Amino acid sequence: MQDFVFHNSTKLLFGKDKEQLVGQESVVYGKKLLLHYGGGSIKSSGLYDRVVQSLLEEGIELFELGGVKPNPRVSLVREGIELCKDKNIDLILAVGGGSVIDSAKAIAAGAKYDGDVWDFYDGNAEVMDSLPIGVVLTIPAAGSESSEGSVITNEDGWFKRATGHTSLRPRFAILNPVLTYTLPTYQTACGITDMIAHILERYFTNEKNVELTDRLCEAALKTIINNAHTALENPTNYDARAEIMWSGTIAHNDLLGTGRIGDWGSHDIEHELSGIYDIAHGAGLAIVFPAWMRYVYKHDVNRFVQFANRVWDVEIDLNNLEKTALAGIKKTEQFFNSIGMPVTLKEANIGQEHFEQMAKKGTERGPLGNFVKLYKDDVVQILNLAK
Ligand code: NZQ
Ligand code: ZN
Repeated sequence: MQDFVFHNSTKLLFGKDKEQLVGQESVVYGKKLLLHYGGGSIKSSGLYDRVVQSLLEEGIELFELGGVKPNPRVSLVREGIELCKDKNIDLILAVGGGSVIDSAKAIAAGAKYDGDVWDFYDGNAEVMDSLPIGVVLTIPAAGSESSEGSVITNEDGWFKRATGHTSLRPRFAILNPVLTYTLPTYQTACGITDMIAHILERYFTNEKNVELTDRLCEAALKTIINNAHTALENPTNYDARAEIMWSGTIAHNDLLGTGRIGDWGSHDIEHELSGIYDIAHGAGLAIVFPAWMRYVYKHDVNRFVQFANRVWDVEIDLNNLEKTALAGIKKTEQFFNSIGMPVTLKEANIGQEHFEQMAKKGTERGPLGNFVKLYKDDVVQILNLAK
């Protein structure tokens, strides 16, 4: 096991009606607040009104910036930064999913920086400080509600890039599973896929003697798999929604990665896909992950056998470990398919025309992944396996 520091400082408020506490939690950071949200789901669900009421009850002065798109754009981030600087904003409240939270994080970092915010994403500057961020989560998926990462898309060249800093970790996040009842089936499935991917990125490690985190990863994976179909078929089943929501946070709050080095190659390849084709992050992962698994499994067949056996209950064939490993990969792919995700590029209407370009863009700052290092040609081969 590797040495580690685990310090996740996000205060989590989990349960029914917890959004009523948003005013109380926010006012701790000041009286001028930027309310940041997406394309309107929070208005049609009535959440917007409840949040605003709670904020006003605490005497908070509200400024608003809506319109965050999935795969959030740097142009809106720049608008938000201007607003924060102009109005001396104390706290940014993100009400929505990963896209809104990531956009809020970018604004928070940009508001404390004199240069252009994209510097943080293309590696020309490091985030040093940010405005505080609060979250009311409406979709369990990205785990951004307690992560220190932010992923933004630059329309100029369609680069989708990530940055991270401890100051970007939200100060608090409100998680009410009831708020996820209104999610379309497709978005629920994308979220489920993303949280599974966050666990798998950590699971496939070269680190030996990481039994506790292996078992924690497996428990979280099994919980998500066990509750996925219930949540999809009965969207107002509180228990299933609650299990999925808590799993989404646990999948990406760094606990499952303690003492081990994760891979993250599939995420980086997916960011190239959603950068160019603007597909949902979860859907892109359902396509890339099984292909990545098939490309790398021989690197550590035993780890893939353990995964197949413990997560998917595949019986171990001691005479043919590769067969067991491949059966686990197949089960993963079938599961993604069963929840309505595409598992090939073709199913997402993506052709081969940009394979070289995506592989080149993705690897221009060095090879991807840690479990197995991926160079440009490896990425092309993985995309070919995903055809
Ligand atoms: O914009 P609105 O109208 O709110 O609709 C959203 C959006 O269309 C809708 N939605 C959200 N909550 C809803 C709802 N619709 C009805 N009822 C609700 N309760 O869902 C759609 C997708 O929202 P989005 O925020 O894009 O989803 P998600 O949370 O999956 O975020 C995806 C983004 O997060 C990034 C991804 O790359 C992608 O850009 N990631 C961020 C990470 C991080 N910061 O740590 C890690 C992840 O690996 C990921 O890369
Ligand atoms: Zn992800």
